[in-house]
Amino acid sequence: MGLKSLPKQFHQPLEERFSEKKILDQVSIPLIDMSNWESPEVAKSICDAAENWGFFQIVNHGVPLEVLERVKEATHRFFALPAEEKRKYSKENSPTNKVRLGSSFVPLVEKALEWKDFLSLFYGSEEETSAFWPPVCKDETLEYMKSSEVLIRRLMHVLVKGLNVKRIDEIREPMLLGSRRVNLNYYPMCPNPELTVGVGRHSDISTFTILLQDDIGGLHVRKDSGNDWIHVAPISGSLIINIGDALQIMSNGRYKSIEHCVIANGSQNRISVPLFVNPKPEAILCPFPEVLANGEKPLYKPVLCADYSRHFYTKAHDGKKTIDFAKIGDF
Ligand code: OGA
Ligand code: NI
Repeated sequence: MGLKSLPKQFHQPLEERFSEKKILDQVSIPLIDMSNWESPEVAKSICDAAENWGFFQIVNHGVPLEVLERVKEATHRFFALPAEEKRKYSKENSPTNKVRLGSSFVPLVEKALEWKDFLSLFYGSEEETSAFWPPVCKDETLEYMKSSEVLIRRLMHVLVKGLNVKRIDEIREPMLLGSRRVNLNYYPMCPNPELTVGVGRHSDISTFTILLQDDIGGLHVRKDSGNDWIHVAPISGSLIINIGDALQIMSNGRYKSIEHCVIANGSQNRISVPLFVNPKPEAILCPFPEVLANGEKPLYKPVLCADYSRHFYTKAHDGKKTIDFAKIGDF
């Protein structure tokens, strides 16, 4: 809208602003070449990254680069629609809760808003997709989702093997990979980027997330538990993988779901397209028996996945606090 200054409701408290964070410019998250994904070395680097970083970038991942370009273009097309077109997909107007246009995260409960719009697309079925997803981005988003399936299974295969889980059976499959959600994120150019955030500190609740970003940058990942943050520099053709809370729970804390946030940008509109690989809502999340076989104590109690996500969406972004919902005791 060409606003000259940031409206008050987007002013973040000082402690959430980037001016208060220490950005480590000499550090980056691991970059993994997936061409030989089954080789013991590559598998080890994936599992090590999941344990020690919770975030990594991959190249030669097998998802065609044209597919990535097309979904990025589709995202720009959607957000370039006139406001009244986009509003058809708002919470109030959308004919289904599987398609939702939103701003910030949960505005009704947030003390300060985040500088971001998004279209969230939950995949139910082919029929629902063709009936309800917006025509300007439907085919491209579906193609991105489908073209990522082979990669999703490869990553899953490697990650569970690293936990000593020998087979993904009929119970494990829906617990790990039961549903998909794609968000089209739009971070418009911001008049006072230093006063707000694109996305506040949070961890994803997914099993893992495949994140496609454009070449603008701005995503930051927390290093350890201090105030040090690492910028995830865009690498053309790469995808970012991050472990979510569900896999942290299933691995009993071995794999880490790391806090991340996005800085607002004063000169460019940024987009990103996360594909959340989630458990089925009906699945029960709990540590795998194989992980506890060495006598390790479970850190998390069984929770219904739908209850866990409901909890996530009833509060503002609050770093790593969502996972307390499943924690046993205080640690
Ligand atoms: C998210 C997220 C990061 C980005 O949508 O959960 O963390 O770079 N996005 O947009
Ligand atoms: Ni996220």
